[in-house]
Amino acid sequence: MEKYIVKGGTPLKGEVKISGAKNAALGILAAAVMTDQVVTVENVPLVRDSDVIIKALQSVGASIRQKEKNVFEIDGSTIKSVNIRYDQVKKIRASYYLIGALLGKYKEAKVALPGGCDIGSRPIDMHIKGFTALGADVDIMAGGIVWARARKLTGAHIYFDMVSVGATINLMMAACMAEGETILENAAKEPHIVDVANFLNAMGAKIKGAGTDVIRIKGVKKLHSVTYSIIPDQIEAGTFMAAAAITGGDITVCDVIPKHLESISAKLIEMGCEVIEGDDSVRVISKGRLHSTNIKTLPYPGFPTDMQPQFAAALSVAEGTSIVTEGVFDSRFRYVDELVRMGARGNLEGNTFYIEGVEKLSGAELTAPDLRAGAALVLAALAADGFSEIEDIHLIQRGYEDFDGKLRSLGADIVIITNEHDAQKFKLQVG
Ligand code: UD1
Repeated sequence: MEKYIVKGGTPLKGEVKISGAKNAALGILAAAVMTDQVVTVENVPLVRDSDVIIKALQSVGASIRQKEKNVFEIDGSTIKSVNIRYDQVKKIRASYYLIGALLGKYKEAKVALPGGCDIGSRPIDMHIKGFTALGADVDIMAGGIVWARARKLTGAHIYFDMVSVGATINLMMAACMAEGETILENAAKEPHIVDVANFLNAMGAKIKGAGTDVIRIKGVKKLHSVTYSIIPDQIEAGTFMAAAAITGGDITVCDVIPKHLESISAKLIEMGCEVIEGDDSVRVISKGRLHSTNIKTLPYPGFPTDMQPQFAAALSVAEGTSIVTEGVFDSRFRYVDELVRMGARGNLEGNTFYIEGVEKLSGAELTAPDLRAGAALVLAALAADGFSEIEDIHLIQRGYEDFDGKLRSLGADIVIITNEHDAQKFKLQVG
């Protein structure tokens, strides 16, 4: 099994190119089959989640060809079935986008959701309510298969009870091929909502207002071919910005949209870093020990929940007490025990992590609990004294393209190992 081995203590320095946004890619790759013409998607991040969506689409007959490293040609005209099996999508939550895309185009989708009976604890009730409002019958069948079908979809006025990225994108996809106008109220405003809307509009959809909390969609009969480049990944960029802060380094994230990073930059400034925005880059320079601060995660433009673990890791070595509150998900602190084993101090009370900053963390044997928490543990290991080994890195690879390679290019001592011999070799090399 692959693990990362890390020797901490080196301040990371240099420039790093940010890949395309994973969460935009998942929506865009699914939406790309909504036309029978060939669509070219550029800047696709080569991460495991993209791979899962691509393989799921291929499993129902879509022809998908990797034209260049991050460029894929997608032909939805060869799709023969609307039935996506559990083993195709069990690893990712975003398999729900296949429902919106297939229902919009074929007026039917049968898609297995990750975890089957876990649906209750990871609700998609607002997606289902939305599809139903558009006129679909939606049943959850044995084994967690969602079966949505309609004779026709008709535009509707939909008010989301909670701000949901997934429900907003899914309803946008289905509604753009419904008859008449759909209005989505209390819509999510994340950069990838705007990116998926721009992509659909470039294919001939009529979506207005994406990026605000009211989105208006006029249904069209057909979508057409397009070549489209995905926006840069806000969370990958934020993770490298946090890496500069936690390691006492100086990192420029390149090919980014600085506006998408404002809530992250603002926190880093509060934590004592210097942040310099360029046209398509942001440089984070550490100015010594970090200061404590408080963070509450919120839907965009608030501080992203997907950056919460990485910042908690950085605050664990800041001077003073920090309070980190999770405001989007019920529970997102499965990394705390691992951080504590590295010497971090703090208390978890409900959805709030009270952190008492320590001078230094120490290397440890760690397990990535999920994608972003896994990345946070890598950052902690990069700042810690000594060696750390991190297991379950396939979870980190779900969302970071060549994470270890990019970190090495900034001076990090990190490699992937598969056995004890590799570990010993690395230890001898880096001393
Ligand atoms: C997306 C992102 C994920 C990010 C999250 C919040 C993708 C593929 N994933 O996830 O990385 O952490 O947004 O920015 O883009 N909820 C319901 N009912 C629903 C839908 C959601 O109660 O039908 C709840 C969720 O449990 C959660 C909150 O709404 O508490 C927000 O979730 P949502 O924005 O839908 O997250 P995802 O789209 O799953």
